[in-house]
Amino acid sequence: MSNLIKNLINEGKQVLSKYGIKNPIGDARLIIKKTLKKTEIEFIFSPNQKVSLKQRNLIFENFIDRARGKPISKIFGLKDFYLNEFIVNNNVLDPRPETELLVDLTIKNFFKITKKKISLLELGIGSGCLIISILLSVKQNNVSALGVDSCDKALKIAKKNIKKFKLEKKLKLKKSDWFSNVNNKFDIIVSNPPYIKTSDIKNLDKEVKLYDPFIALDGGLDGLKCFERIARDARFHLKKNGVILLEIGFGQINSIKKIFERWGYEIILKEKDLQGIIRVVGFKLKITLKV
Ligand SMILES: C[S@@+](CC[C@H](N)C(=O)[O-])C[C@H]1O[C@@H](n2cnc3c(N)ncnc32)[C@H](O)[C@@H]1O
Repeated sequence: MSNLIKNLINEGKQVLSKYGIKNPIGDARLIIKKTLKKTEIEFIFSPNQKVSLKQRNLIFENFIDRARGKPISKIFGLKDFYLNEFIVNNNVLDPRPETELLVDLTIKNFFKITKKKISLLELGIGSGCLIISILLSVKQNNVSALGVDSCDKALKIAKKNIKKFKLEKKLKLKKSDWFSNVNNKFDIIVSNPPYIKTSDIKNLDKEVKLYDPFIALDGGLDGLKCFERIARDARFHLKKNGVILLEIGFGQINSIKKIFERWGYEIILKEKDLQGIIRVVGFKLKITLKV
């Protein structure tokens, strides 16, 4: 038994690979780093550091949780996303790297330097990682934002993250079934709605099935039910020249384009993720509705 960090990485790797964890070295490193609350730089320079017996036991408890399939984010209640670390639990979708593309595109294309006030809405806020990352990156004071979710428990986590990043003044929260409780119009609407077909959920990785909430995954029979509702109602909540930007699933682009075109929108953006899958799509209304 060794108490040196470099040897613990090796022991962790052995435990995790025995239980079929896909990236055993990466996960063992991350578990040790997070248990010891070290930054990446501190961790890189400490392979020969000794840990206490208490720390070793804690690290092994976390290895065992991971070996049983618990995601690292859910072991520590924290997940890195777009430069920051967000509070998470089993009531919110684990922030995904794919969603960072939506953050990037929103910031780059739709936040022009202007004195005009910009209003931003997120539908299905979950942990808040998406809209909070946008607000932290644009650093403009002329942005007011609203995040909605139909799940009280998710809203609780979003509230914690808003507090963590001191955005209480800029970002408000509301419980709403998509637009049911939203009254205003917005310049920018963003959403990463649930888009997995109900029948496909049972085939997802154990980590997703067991630790991500069903309500955050379930897109109904064809995976498109949320897009239908959003397309139907967003028309009444977009300002003149307003845009709606969405994360979508593999192979959904044509169906989603059709749904939005049917409700009077035109496509203004589509972008592939690193796997070459069209992951983000943007629309605007052909004619702004006067309601
Ligand atoms: C895929 S998760 C996205 C969470 C977060 N925005 C992100 O990107 O990590 C979808 C979110 O939509 C919420 N949701 C599901 N159905 C909803 C509805 N009818 N109205 C509002 N929010 C809903 C879920 O609770 C969940 O938080």
